[in-house]
Amino acid sequence: MASSPASDLPPADPTFAIPGRAHWDTGPNDMPRLQLASPDGSTATVYQHGAHISHFQPAGQSPVLWMSQSCVYDGKSPLRGGVPICFPWFGPHAERSELPSHGYARIRPWDVDSITSTDTHTIAVFSMTPNDAELEMFPNTCHVRLTVTLSSALTMALEITNTSDSAFTISTALHSYFEVDDVKNVNITGLENTQYLSKVEGGTYTQDDQPIKFTRETDRVYQNTTTTCLLHDPDKQRQIAIEKTGSKSTVVWNPWIEKSKNMPDFGDDEWPSMCCIETAAAGPDAITIEPGQAHTITAKISAQST
Ligand code: BG6
Repeated sequence: MASSPASDLPPADPTFAIPGRAHWDTGPNDMPRLQLASPDGSTATVYQHGAHISHFQPAGQSPVLWMSQSCVYDGKSPLRGGVPICFPWFGPHAERSELPSHGYARIRPWDVDSITSTDTHTIAVFSMTPNDAELEMFPNTCHVRLTVTLSSALTMALEITNTSDSAFTISTALHSYFEVDDVKNVNITGLENTQYLSKVEGGTYTQDDQPIKFTRETDRVYQNTTTTCLLHDPDKQRQIAIEKTGSKSTVVWNPWIEKSKNMPDFGDDEWPSMCCIETAAAGPDAITIEPGQAHTITAKISAQST
């Protein structure tokens, strides 16, 4: 096992590497990113900005995560695609609309705590504690850690520790964007008969007993659900599984035609090639963490040919 404790590894140390398993390089605009590989040949990329996973490709498969060709790599904006970390709130801030959508975690650099490897896995740990400006937005001290474990699957564990002296409530998501051949032909199983809040239609509905299909703009927070979702992509002959723990919301999103045109970092014609299935804790499933306690949300993504 090779390892590098935080004290030995400045953030994004470009010289650090575990041969064949982990090395730093830079993406567009010289943004530091960590390239990971597992013994079976699966690969992943994590930007230091937002601890944002931008790429996951299991051995023998095409890339599983979608990134927009219009993504803005300026070190300040959220990256469009991959897995943005939404924290400490999901969506717009409840009272202050001027605050960043989906919180501050995805638009700030994270520290690198360790990078290790075993016979079967490559593991990178990132963390952050809020600075003064972030405490002004959400006045609660905390420590947030993301553990990225790569094998043939990608497992993300987001651990939030309350380091303050009072309880606080957060909403959060591992906002995963998936690459599909044509969103009009895919379907999602695992959320049948589940209640959801629709941000498009407004109001609360219950999914019928059929798989979810995309026929229009879709923006739904499925509630009180812990089930594994399967994304079936017949054109790619692939099935993606999203297993989760510690999360009781699953968000399903595709912006469709008009909303895509209104997002500057999202190509007008990109909507058919993606959909989001987000491991979340939002709305009534937001999480209250007591002082000194921690809560962990995990999402495990794997793919198989069909
Ligand atoms: C989804 C939300 O999780 O993220 C949508 O449910 C939102 O309402 C989408 O449009 C993208 O958000 P953002 O802030 O990355 O543009």
